[in-house]
Amino acid sequence: MSILYRSDAPRAAAWAHYFRKFAPDLDFRVWPDAGDLDDVEYLIAWQAPAEFIAKLPRLKVFFSSGAGVDHVDFSALPEHVPIVRMVEPGIIDGMVEYVSLGVLALHRDFFDYQAAKAAGVWNPLEVPPASSRTIGVMGMGALGRAVLERLASYGFDLRGWNRSLRVMDGVESFAGPDQLQPFLAGCDVLICLLPLTPATKGILNRELFSLLPVGAALINVGRGPHLVDADLLEALDAGQLSRAILDVTEPEPLSAEHPFWAHPRVFLTPHVASMTQPESAAPILLENVRRHQRGEPLKDVIDRSRGY
Ligand code: GLV
Repeated sequence: MSILYRSDAPRAAAWAHYFRKFAPDLDFRVWPDAGDLDDVEYLIAWQAPAEFIAKLPRLKVFFSSGAGVDHVDFSALPEHVPIVRMVEPGIIDGMVEYVSLGVLALHRDFFDYQAAKAAGVWNPLEVPPASSRTIGVMGMGALGRAVLERLASYGFDLRGWNRSLRVMDGVESFAGPDQLQPFLAGCDVLICLLPLTPATKGILNRELFSLLPVGAALINVGRGPHLVDADLLEALDAGQLSRAILDVTEPEPLSAEHPFWAHPRVFLTPHVASMTQPESAAPILLENVRRHQRGEPLKDVIDRSRGY
């Protein structure tokens, strides 16, 4: 019975250490030291290339090493192999930190002060209370809800939009395409934490931006293809949007000549908002393997038809 890790190399040792210590009965292997692939029953990986999956005749469960599964080729995984998303405290905490930092930096005008400093200008701006800013989160899954909970502690006015209604204390909830417009109409900062599916690809587009209040800001921590880049540039240049904080782009890395690099009101990070932390993820993944071995239902299995 073996479990194969075929993902981020720097973090492999920490995964292996945990499994060898707490699950010595499981033969934990790290790619490319995979041994006989016939024995592999559990695979932890970022991607599932068809030609590789075809070499794993006994594969029972595919664990995504990240929160998203949009990059996984579902058709390469036989129907009887469940696909499990990474839901673990480390990845949630990282996202909460990044988004809080972005919202607070926007709220407290840090980007304006950075520009003012470069220009040698001493220009104190008003400091409105957090309660005067409405922050909207698209996607109220494990990450979106954790972000909303933390933002609530600062006193922001909060709203969330989700495919199906998610009720949360202190958050005004909106659901489905019909409520997108009223949701957007109040958002001073819009955060995209949606899964990438055919229904959400390109959702951050000209029409959506036009429904936001003038001067709103965008934080995209979903996926690059959620955003129509040209529409964002147009909205920024027209003043419809004030700023964008982007952690994801299409493609990654962003091409060298892309206008985002030089744009003064685009803040860019190289897909680092949040990462799976082996120390907190390994115990959760192991518990899921144990459930599977006991014949109990797995946690965090995705619905292939929804795509997340
Ligand atoms: C990162 O983007 C992830 O899906 O974990």
